[in-house]
Amino acid sequence: MKPSEFFNTDNPLTPGQIGFFEDNGYLLLKNYLTPNICRELRDQANRLIAEFEPDSAISIFSTKNQTDTSDSYFLQSGDKIRFFFEEDAFSPDGKLKQSKAKSINKIGHALHDLNPLFREFSYHPQFAEILTALGVQSPLLAQSMYIFKQPGIGGEVSCHQDSTFLYTDPLSVIGLWFALEDATVENGCLWAIPGAHQSGLKSRFLRITGEKTNFEIYDKSEWSSDELVPLEASQGTLVLLHGSLPHYSKANFSSQSRHAYTIHVIDGVCSYPENNWLQRPQEMPFRGF
Ligand code: FE2
Repeated sequence: MKPSEFFNTDNPLTPGQIGFFEDNGYLLLKNYLTPNICRELRDQANRLIAEFEPDSAISIFSTKNQTDTSDSYFLQSGDKIRFFFEEDAFSPDGKLKQSKAKSINKIGHALHDLNPLFREFSYHPQFAEILTALGVQSPLLAQSMYIFKQPGIGGEVSCHQDSTFLYTDPLSVIGLWFALEDATVENGCLWAIPGAHQSGLKSRFLRITGEKTNFEIYDKSEWSSDELVPLEASQGTLVLLHGSLPHYSKANFSSQSRHAYTIHVIDGVCSYPENNWLQRPQEMPFRGF
């Protein structure tokens, strides 16, 4: 597949779109990806799962109990392709309740460097143009995730700011979230609090000694959930998310999956602390476009 087949448009962001992002902390670009690349990325993710042989290193993803689930499999995944199960995928005897393909919460966190199709897609120069327009001086791809939001068991992702997990000084994270299937209120679309990216970072997720983690709290107040608005996104939509924007997604109790691919970009002119959970070995640093 040629890179030009990825996109329905190569129009730069308009001043109005940039202004909307700055005011609200997010921006939806509908019909941005072609149906073809959405299908190619979905097929690739499904192939990766088919080839994945779960062993004793079963890891469950949860943002509700992140410090409990931060095992070494998770903490060492910054430079790997690893597979994380849904919390509700297992019956009490520890066996999967449904097929492996329907049990995975997400794949992370270096698909963009290690898988040829995801690499070709993620490093497309068109994204660098968008990021430059949003003020990123030296965009570097820090992590990628393929999120399945499985029908029936796709778990809630509690309200958070991405800069909590990918902190830089000064803050710089921007998320690019691609709807590879329709994301609706029924199947667990993103929700966000418009404008709340301007109210500061509430916490940081820190790697402390060895493989322990902890949250450092700066603001104990809860997000006001009645201010959350749904960001429904039809297949092919690119959702841009400011790193300080509080966002979450509900569990998916519907019969429709909600596949999404997301990459998180940091600005290389900002410092990236050694106590962020996600670290790269010296021989595999974050790369730019
Ligand atoms: Fe997030």
